[in-house]
Amino acid sequence: MMTMKNRLPNFIPTIATFVILGSAIIYDYYKINDLTIQMSRLKSEVASTAAKQAARTEEIFQNLSGLQSQTAGLSNSLTNTQQNIDAVTTKVGGIEQTVGTVTGTVGSLQKLAKIDPELLKKYSKIFFMSENYTPAHIYTIPDEYVYSSKHSEQFVAEAWPFLKAMLDAAKADNVSLLIKSGYRSFAEQQTLKSRYTVVYGAGTANSFSAEQGYSEHQLGTTVDVITSGIAGNLDKFDGTKAYEWMKNNAYKFGFEQSYPKGNNYYVYEPWHWRFVGVKLATDLHNRNMNFYSMDQRDIDNYLINIFD
Ligand code: DAL
Ligand code: ZN
Repeated sequence: MMTMKNRLPNFIPTIATFVILGSAIIYDYYKINDLTIQMSRLKSEVASTAAKQAARTEEIFQNLSGLQSQTAGLSNSLTNTQQNIDAVTTKVGGIEQTVGTVTGTVGSLQKLAKIDPELLKKYSKIFFMSENYTPAHIYTIPDEYVYSSKHSEQFVAEAWPFLKAMLDAAKADNVSLLIKSGYRSFAEQQTLKSRYTVVYGAGTANSFSAEQGYSEHQLGTTVDVITSGIAGNLDKFDGTKAYEWMKNNAYKFGFEQSYPKGNNYYVYEPWHWRFVGVKLATDLHNRNMNFYSMDQRDIDNYLINIFD
């Protein structure tokens, strides 16, 4: 038999169950609600962070873009600067070249100013040297190179090394080559010509002897050469070993034969050689030309190199 004490209404457990379940549901509801709020907050935070990052990224991109523009600007600027440097370098190069040319021209003029312009003029009835013309520097040729022991001979000092080299080279080739006549002053030529005129008559004398003022010998750069075995007779120089040697070698030392066969000025003078510089003598030799057949203006171009 059941006691009153043990007897509970039947709905009590049911209500209790409802209360428990309801509490659990309410608890869960609040819990879910709380989680939803938290999620929502987190979503906002995430959205906010993403927005901030996007803004930052945009800012960085803009900065990068700015830097790129600046770099491009600097690159352009560098290119322009390089172009300016190149232009200035070109100008400086041009100026240097001009300065070099001017310096060269000044140097050439200074060199030319030291050379007697008479040295490459045509005489022989063309140009005239006054009685006052004498070489600035005259050198007395050592006796061993001179034919006559009674008469000393002279030559322009600057040209002497060329003459000496030629005489020494002939000797080295076993060719006897000596100086018969070198520098002659205006007065000496006058005396010589007067004597020839008396002996041979003016016509004949004029064919082989220059008037004073017209002789290449007055320049001091001209010699009459002779060889042994012809007793000092210049007329016998043609056909000698010495003359053959001169024809083949004299140009190498700057000498040319002023009066070859058939020239317009004097008789054939194989012994008469004038120093005109190695360059001109070589050009004349190679072109088979004569000094007097070359234009004076062309000859003048060689003056600067006469002693080279
Ligand atoms: N024998 C040459 C032409 C002179 O007298 O200069
Ligand atoms: Zn002569």
